[in-house]
Amino acid sequence: MPYQPTREDRFSFGLWTIDWSGQDQFGTATRAPIDPVVAVHKLAELGAWGITLHDDDLVPFGSAAATREAIIKRFTAALADTGMVAEMVTTNTFSHPVFKDGALTANDRRVRRYGLRKVLRNVDLAAELGARTFVMWGGREGAEYDSAKDIFAALERYREGIDTVAAYIKQAGYDLRIALEPKPNEPRGDILLPTVGHALAFIGQLDNGDIVGLNPEVGHEQMAVLNYTAGIAQALWADKLFHIDLNGQKSVKYDQDLVFGHGDLLSAFGTVDLLENGFPGGGPRYDGPRHFDYKPSRTEGLQGVWDSAAANMRTYLILAERARAFRADPEVAAALAESKVFELSQPTLGAGESLGAFLADRTAFEDADPAALAARGCGFVRLNQLALDHLLGAR
Ligand code: GCO
Ligand code: MN
Ligand code: MN
Repeated sequence: MPYQPTREDRFSFGLWTIDWSGQDQFGTATRAPIDPVVAVHKLAELGAWGITLHDDDLVPFGSAAATREAIIKRFTAALADTGMVAEMVTTNTFSHPVFKDGALTANDRRVRRYGLRKVLRNVDLAAELGARTFVMWGGREGAEYDSAKDIFAALERYREGIDTVAAYIKQAGYDLRIALEPKPNEPRGDILLPTVGHALAFIGQLDNGDIVGLNPEVGHEQMAVLNYTAGIAQALWADKLFHIDLNGQKSVKYDQDLVFGHGDLLSAFGTVDLLENGFPGGGPRYDGPRHFDYKPSRTEGLQGVWDSAAANMRTYLILAERARAFRADPEVAAALAESKVFELSQPTLGAGESLGAFLADRTAFEDADPAALAARGCGFVRLNQLALDHLLGAR
């Protein structure tokens, strides 16, 4: 069957994605919760390879130790039965009212100490489940009012918190890396580390930044009116693309978490082209899981949940096929060359060219003809139409 996902595709899903019951600001749940063990079996059946989770998705907040142990044991058995992997684990530091003003950056120090302990306990669970990535999304780390948060102090506390978690991972010798997930707003009015760029700059300030990278989500960058593909490209350039959250978003509105490709499809094509084919001129490649963080729309029943999960993988595979065809097309190769896309990989200064030699090169400036250089069309629109033709299956 065409576009049938296999384990080799390394598709994974958050347990909280398919298990979202449809409760929102305006209405109660429209679906019954799904047993995590059933979720593991069903996702495996659909061709997924992995599952990811928050601590509280699996073990309800406040469960007794024995209950917690029994739940984890049952879940681990389901993983073993199906061959599914728990590739990423993350901590819920946003649902319980204790975190209403954040966890690592709450004004109340006791809340921060509680939140940090919850995260560290979950690092142990991540290691126990064999996860390689520990996502940290600080959805409540932020504020609604400028007067309510000392941003300097909050960033100091955020740095302290992340560095402490990273130090804990190193001390325990866990094979685990932290991936920060940026988001501009929702649930807080403004969230700290709102974009990929902010998070990259933050990582540069950490003592243990070597094991801290990013988990950018499609919709979150698009909520900030940014280009997701360009965002993950810069994360790759910085060697910090540890994980990804794929989904769909239609322009700037609430966080829609639609199926991948059900938002900005042309952007999704660019994303898959980068993930599958890499940069045109070579460079670092993403080799992590293809992870979906979407929500089955509230209108859907149980069958709709599984249909939408399958839709994410199918869309990805279709786009991957189209992106391969795009790169393999000789006309595209010629158009890329014509647009000088490959020439960008050539350093601006010559090999071993000194600054003095550059300044002495009259052809670069004094004798250059900027009007003639400017007269040349770039051919980018034709190139984009070729991409569109491939995306739409017209070539
Ligand atoms: C969102 C976020 C969350 C986080 C997840 C990891 O949609 O606002 O993506 O879903 O990814 O909670 O902690
Ligand atoms: Mn989201
Ligand atoms: Mn996410």
